Amino acid sequence: MTPTRNSPKILVTGGAGFIGSHTVVSLVEAGFEPVIVDDFSNSQQSVLDGLRTILGHDVRCYTANCNDAAVLEEIFQNESVSGVIHFAAYKAVGESVAKPLKYYRNNLDSLMLLLELMPKYGVSNLVFSSSCTVYGQPEQLPVTENTPRLPAQSPYGNTKAISEDIIRDTIQANVPIKALALRYFNPIGAHPSAEIGELPLGVPANLVPFITQTAAGIRQSLTVYGNDYNTPDGTCIRDYIHVVDLAEAHVQALRKLSESEAVSSYDVINIGTGRGETVLNIINTFEAETGVNLNYTIGPRRPGDVEQVYADVSKANEVLGWTARRSLGESLRDAWRWQQKIS
Ligand code: WQD
Repeated sequence: MTPTRNSPKILVTGGAGFIGSHTVVSLVEAGFEPVIVDDFSNSQQSVLDGLRTILGHDVRCYTANCNDAAVLEEIFQNESVSGVIHFAAYKAVGESVAKPLKYYRNNLDSLMLLLELMPKYGVSNLVFSSSCTVYGQPEQLPVTENTPRLPAQSPYGNTKAISEDIIRDTIQANVPIKALALRYFNPIGAHPSAEIGELPLGVPANLVPFITQTAAGIRQSLTVYGNDYNTPDGTCIRDYIHVVDLAEAHVQALRKLSESEAVSSYDVINIGTGRGETVLNIINTFEAETGVNLNYTIGPRRPGDVEQVYADVSKANEVLGWTARRSLGESLRDAWRWQQKIS
């Protein structure tokens, strides 16, 4: 699918990242023309090569940080985009605890710059990358969008909660923006072509890339962070969603905004599978799907981990007409295929 002159242009900030790059593919497949801006602080130029292989053409990319007002202004002047999907943010939970100002400065200033430039150039559609981390450890499960947000467990998580409030308050001040904040659960997997996937910098913090690197012999042993939680097998529960399902949710959100006659609007939507899986079940499913035995040990709990969180996805079904279609097994097979490709 190659964009035409009539394909609506969408600015994808952080479009060379894990979720961003998969969303770029889904946008083209849906008839949009994505324009990427990315500083490559958490990505590699090889992602653009992977996108070219999948799509059969180059995707325009500006190499810049989203706090660079001159470049952002140039993009809005030159590209006449019809919407923005804002992924660009620092997202390492542990680093955010060590360097909070880096996270508040980068994640919040870039959002505020976008919110100033969009109405200036008549761009009203915004899809924002938020996170289930805003729920903390919820009292009730599954979490709905009305589940109260709890104090963030990290400065990273706090930037997501504050960002939601900045967008909401800006729109309540009659700035002509229609925005949907998508609260992701745990994105995993890779594009089935194995041309793009997750590229964690250094030692992976997240479970599935640590699993695939252990299976590939890059890591000696996987540690399961605690098996004394109040769950069926004692390990934490999360809602693991295939990254392509997540990417497709962004396209649906954009379509919803584009169809809306409203001058301004704001809403939040959970994007997950609606299923909770324990860490041990992820490990067992990976072994069953790939035939690879994982060397793992049970270690102490990881500070800051919530015991269990998974989504009520009825609003995404009703408002976006979207539901996750890919199974846990498919997600883990795609993650493994990608790991084998890059190892
Ligand atoms: C999942 C489970 C760990 C690694 C993070 C961010 C969150 C969001 C999604 C961006 C937990 C366990 C992990 C390991 C393990 N990102 N685990 N051994 O913490 O749920 O969420 O990614 O929005 O903001 O915090 O994901 O993959 O790190 O952990 O046992 O080597 O796997 O304890 O229970 P998490 P995760």
